[in-house]
Amino acid sequence: MSEPYDVVIIGGGPGGYNCAIRAGQLGLKTACIEMRETLGGTCLNVGCIPSKALLHTTELYEAAQTRFAGLGIKAEGLSFDLDTIMAGKRDVVDGLTKGIAGLFKKNKVDHIAGKGRIAGQGKVEVETVDGKTTTLETRNIVIATGSEPTPLPGIEIDEKRIVSSTGALALERVPEHLILVGAGVIGLELGSVWRRLGAKVTVVEYLDRILPGMDSEIAKQAQRIFKKQGFAFKLGRKVTGADTSGKTLAVETEAADGGSPETLTGDVMLVCIGRRPYTEGLGLDTVGIEPDRRGVIANDHFRTGVDGIWVIGDCTSGPMLAHKAEDEGVACAELIAGKPGHVNYAAIPGVVYTAPEIATVGLTEDELKESGRAYKTGKFSFMANSRARANHETDGFVKLLADAETDELLGGHMIGTGVGEMIAELCLALEFGASSEDVARTSHPHPTMTEAIRQAAMGVEGWTMQS
Ligand code: FAD
Ligand code: NAI
Repeated sequence: MSEPYDVVIIGGGPGGYNCAIRAGQLGLKTACIEMRETLGGTCLNVGCIPSKALLHTTELYEAAQTRFAGLGIKAEGLSFDLDTIMAGKRDVVDGLTKGIAGLFKKNKVDHIAGKGRIAGQGKVEVETVDGKTTTLETRNIVIATGSEPTPLPGIEIDEKRIVSSTGALALERVPEHLILVGAGVIGLELGSVWRRLGAKVTVVEYLDRILPGMDSEIAKQAQRIFKKQGFAFKLGRKVTGADTSGKTLAVETEAADGGSPETLTGDVMLVCIGRRPYTEGLGLDTVGIEPDRRGVIANDHFRTGVDGIWVIGDCTSGPMLAHKAEDEGVACAELIAGKPGHVNYAAIPGVVYTAPEIATVGLTEDELKESGRAYKTGKFSFMANSRARANHETDGFVKLLADAETDELLGGHMIGTGVGEMIAELCLALEFGASSEDVARTSHPHPTMTEAIRQAAMGVEGWTMQS
């Protein structure tokens, strides 16, 4: 019998593949089981990467259509070819997923194609595509099975007219009217893609605001900008049914607390009301693990409470983000190898890749108000930032929050062009326990959008330099 694995990881997404690569680097005998044809999980195949490819191309198209003339650039008779746009997206996905397979080889990770199932402590059964089952012996199992779209009761996803994000990333035609259920990250990103290509977009959102969980001042500004771009928002409403029998799709809606029914007609409906942990057929019962609404719960540094079984990524609690899954994967591999491994959940950023982008890290002002902790704020508008002015991209602002007494930076929230890149500066500041004065006294290149962060930090100190 062959030597058992040190670690078998079930799931090859950002959590699983980063865990596997790090484990390989640390000299552990490692296998990663993935049931999808390619590695990379939701993120690379049907999530982060294809959505960003479409967002980038369509943002350029919209800029050429709406902004170039004002800048003195003549780009008349513009048009697009959806097949080419989609082919570009597929190329990016293919290249990146193959890259993971290459990294597995380089780091001596066995990639096992098939569906993994825990068959007791130290045993994982794999059912391969040809229907054969093999059993792997292992000292450690890492559950990294990710998440799936939360269904809307009574509504069937056919991925043609009623789609999840997966279908919305691969529509064959631009819908005339796209109805979104949920004004969260997926709705705003994929709604932007199709709106830029000509679709009318209506968002039905249960709450009375968009982007719940984000700083509410930022979310309000975002809603104003998206409305100007053409998004129609129906807040405080829910979808109660959808009729696909006719040529047009009829979507029944009513107020969140009942009453005032309204039927919307469109041609595609995207259901994006959140994602839920995926652990179907995983054999958790064989080891006495009972997942709850948040998935498989870790009681201490990714440990499930069952010896040698760990959990990371979307299938456990915390934000469902690729970099959170990746951080957990790396730390988990380090712990398995007997090294220290830790994730600082207070410094995990979130970015919405719309135009303008929205980026956030740390505590929101709403959370600080609720906790009663005394805090100071500093705000700086891109309207007063020289690079934003030079680029004619002045929408948005930076808001920093710091402890009133110690000046420790507690959170940073921004809306504006390119803030998804800028947020990393604040992640580092939070990670190093910086004060807002530290940021205010750090030299920033001029003229750049990042100066708005420095000016907001100066604002916390009460000595902003630019008007
Ligand atoms: P996953 O990526 O879901 O990977 C889990 C893998 O496990 C899957 O490939 C699945 O096939 C496999 N699997 C499941 N069960 C088994 C089994 N029994 N046997 C074998 N294999 C199994 N996050 C960001 O940070 N930034 C973004 O821009 C972003 N954009 C997104 C856009 C969209 C449209 C969506 C849907 C998500 C987006 N996300 C984004 C979220 C991100 O994709 C997830 O947080 C991330 O993929 C989670 O990684 P994971 O490894 O935990 O799970
Ligand atoms: P979400 O949690 O961001 O937003 C869901 C929205 O749907 C919320 O506003 C919620 O109030 C609303 N909602 C819930 N039930 C509803 C109902 N019955 N009717 C109407 N509205 C309802 O979830 P989303 O957009 O589906 O994305 C899932 C997850 O994927 C995100 O939370 C995020 O973790 C990840 N993601 C991350 C991205 C990024 O980092 N840029 C991009 C896309 C997805």
